[in-house]
Amino acid sequence: MKKKVLVTRAVFDETLAYLAEHFDVTSNQADVKYSPVELAAKLQGMDATLVSSSDRVDEALLARCPSVKAMCSASVGYNHIDVAACTRRGVIVTNTPGVLTNSVADFAVCLTLATCRRLTEGEAMLRRGEWEGTHLKQLLGVDLHHATVGICGFGRIGQVIAQRLQGFEPKILYSSRNRVAPEVERGLKATYASKDDLLRQSDIVILILPYSQETHHYIGARELGLMKPTGVLINMARGGIVDDTALVEALKARRIFAAGLDVYENEPKVNPGLFGLTNVVLSPHIASASEPTRQGMAMTAAKNCVAALTMGRPPNIVNPEVLKQSA
Ligand code: 8YV
Repeated sequence: MKKKVLVTRAVFDETLAYLAEHFDVTSNQADVKYSPVELAAKLQGMDATLVSSSDRVDEALLARCPSVKAMCSASVGYNHIDVAACTRRGVIVTNTPGVLTNSVADFAVCLTLATCRRLTEGEAMLRRGEWEGTHLKQLLGVDLHHATVGICGFGRIGQVIAQRLQGFEPKILYSSRNRVAPEVERGLKATYASKDDLLRQSDIVILILPYSQETHHYIGARELGLMKPTGVLINMARGGIVDDTALVEALKARRIFAAGLDVYENEPKVNPGLFGLTNVVLSPHIASASEPTRQGMAMTAAKNCVAALTMGRPPNIVNPEVLKQSA
């Protein structure tokens, strides 16, 4: 009998066809998000599931779905999954690193430019029919070229963002848990800085670090206070890394120039204070949303799922210690 797999959101035909070669597949092609209760019900009798970063996998869910042996997320971030609880219960967790790096780095440049140059504010004015022609002091923004750009989080994606930015001839500062090798710093013309020095010196701060207890509210009122009044903050990482309430206050008070956000605390809810502000560009968590990249993420998650249920060790296992328990 084929093993059973649930795909919690709509997925591409190629991914479904691939999974169907191996498993009896149920997928949520209607793409209506399951509540935790519905998800637990759908997972009854399943051997594995392809989840997305909007599905919360916690102790309560795991307790109700003992048949599930692999949680394969179509995302690189996995803070929506209680990995320790999965490990305790012998559940494999996988993610999709690498496949989305280039698209997310592209989007970092997109969101940075849109925010610095007030693109959405200008478009909204135009759509309201309020544009009376261009004039010298209209919608003045911040330049990306030759700016000091501070990148917080200098893993795979942070480094590719630095690479993408080279054409703008910036001064790049970075801050991360671990300093990268000197040849990487040289290659990317990036200088290591403490978090506070980076915040003080940067014209543009780009956040691309993983969410964890340690990075919760990594940017709050104190940090926003360190930034330049002309500074621009870009959050490409995860909601919760920025204290959105403190950010609303800083933007309202023009304590910083502007922010560009792709992620939010308590997604999909957005702090309503952000909606009333003109100096913020908001996008709905779409940094990886190009057709080929999302296809690649789905297929990577599917391959992890097949490996987890048939071979034991998926390529992108997040909790390899779980395998030792079953060995
Ligand atoms: C995805 C992401 O859009 O991979 C991640 O961690 O945040 C995004 O690339 C999203 O998680 C899709 O599930």
